[in-house]
Amino acid sequence: MARFDLVVKGGAVATATDTFRADIGVKDGRIAALADNLEDAAEVVDASGRLVLPGGIDSHCHMDQPPGLDGARNADDFLSATQSAVTGGTTTVIPFAQQLRGQSLRAAVEDYHRKAEGKPVIDYAFHLIVTDPTPSVLGQELPALIGDGYTSFKLYMTYDSLKVNDRQILDILALARREGAMTMIHAENTDCIEWLTEKLELAGRVQPRYHATSRPNVVEREATHRAISLAELLDTPILLVHVSAKEAIEQIHWAQGRGLKIYGETCPQYLFLSEEDMGGFDDDDWHGARCMCSPPPRDKANQEFVWRGLEQGIFSVLSSDHSPFTLNKQGKFAQGPKPPFSKIGNGVPGIATRLPLLFSEGVQTGRLSLQQFVALTATNHAKLYGLHPKKGTIAIGADADLAIWDKDREVTITWKMLNDRTGYTPYEGRRVKGWPVEVFSRGERVMREGEVTAKPGRGQFMRCALPETAVPRGRPVVDPALFA
Ligand code: URP
Ligand code: ZN
Ligand code: ZN
Repeated sequence: MARFDLVVKGGAVATATDTFRADIGVKDGRIAALADNLEDAAEVVDASGRLVLPGGIDSHCHMDQPPGLDGARNADDFLSATQSAVTGGTTTVIPFAQQLRGQSLRAAVEDYHRKAEGKPVIDYAFHLIVTDPTPSVLGQELPALIGDGYTSFKLYMTYDSLKVNDRQILDILALARREGAMTMIHAENTDCIEWLTEKLELAGRVQPRYHATSRPNVVEREATHRAISLAELLDTPILLVHVSAKEAIEQIHWAQGRGLKIYGETCPQYLFLSEEDMGGFDDDDWHGARCMCSPPPRDKANQEFVWRGLEQGIFSVLSSDHSPFTLNKQGKFAQGPKPPFSKIGNGVPGIATRLPLLFSEGVQTGRLSLQQFVALTATNHAKLYGLHPKKGTIAIGADADLAIWDKDREVTITWKMLNDRTGYTPYEGRRVKGWPVEVFSRGERVMREGEVTAKPGRGQFMRCALPETAVPRGRPVVDPALFA
């Protein structure tokens, strides 16, 4: 019997701290050796001239979630979303198990396990979405689920069917602090959005482009500051998700400067899309719906701030927020062919394009080092959500989740190559340099030259540990005995 099941030979191996030449020996799905010259393997893959990176981790992506009030249905289930993920070099996903109001949180989790059954081609964990923090959710269900490995959850400050108010956020943050879980917050001021939306629609300003008008920077800034204040009050670490606006980034930077454990996430749409991509104010074709998400894509000046937030470490992670909706009545246009912007499904697809876009515009241009790229797309996700060092790095004992990149490959992005079911990509026609050509999950080849080779259902569910990043600083504003 060979010593290794697989040896990846001669590549430039990059982690969040180093780049070095090494062969990688894989045994039983894990990295068993890193050395100059490994022999004796059942299969040898030549990676000379290539980069070998930890497979990406996408810790913010939506799969098979129920329609919201806009009626838009996710186009991707756990099979197509994970097939698309590996196409772009991602080997771990953390989608959401969303509680419906009135539903027990445990039932929601069971529901999502059923949806995933037999489908994911790569390993996955779940964040929870808490929409109904009843006494039994707070008293029993959530603590028990955290103990079972669901150690992070998302709260919404907007969307009628999802939002929780400040008092409910406090209840949940107190619990997160006590139990050691990570809280993710979607920060937008819901009343401002509703008020502006009503005024815009009364004035007949209903085109997709007005989606951005209804959610200006200040709406995100105010909610970001409020979320930070609630977290500071209870000394509970939080992560602000899909941050888009300059002023929101300033709030996070300010909080970090005060020593608070406030983390930030951004997404490719805030680097590569702008409000013009949602069309013109007088458009009649509703074409811009394809780029509508919340918060909305903004302008060049905001994009520049997002880049700086990545460069300077204000953001810990870049996720896709893959929210796949078709451009028909199953998806964005569930309410009819040209509905007002407030009735169009929010979200853009991007699980496959996340890494190549950042690599091309970040690493190739010199804005980000390769180490920053690996940290932002893999290692920090694992650390934030209790999956490190099993996932997110190349080290002895880690899972052999590896993406071999051709850094010189020039690719024109087109939806057909992305293996998802949305029917479009907002990045159609964009040229990038650098693309993952071969991907392994636990040592098994799952993608080669754009073709997904993994069997449906081979992905394993993972329980997350309590993350180090969620440990409080120990300096609450009020006596923690009051909410322990
Ligand atoms: O527009 C977005 N971001 N849709 C997905 C849901 C969410 O808020 O992340
Ligand atoms: Zn959100
Ligand atoms: Zn999302």
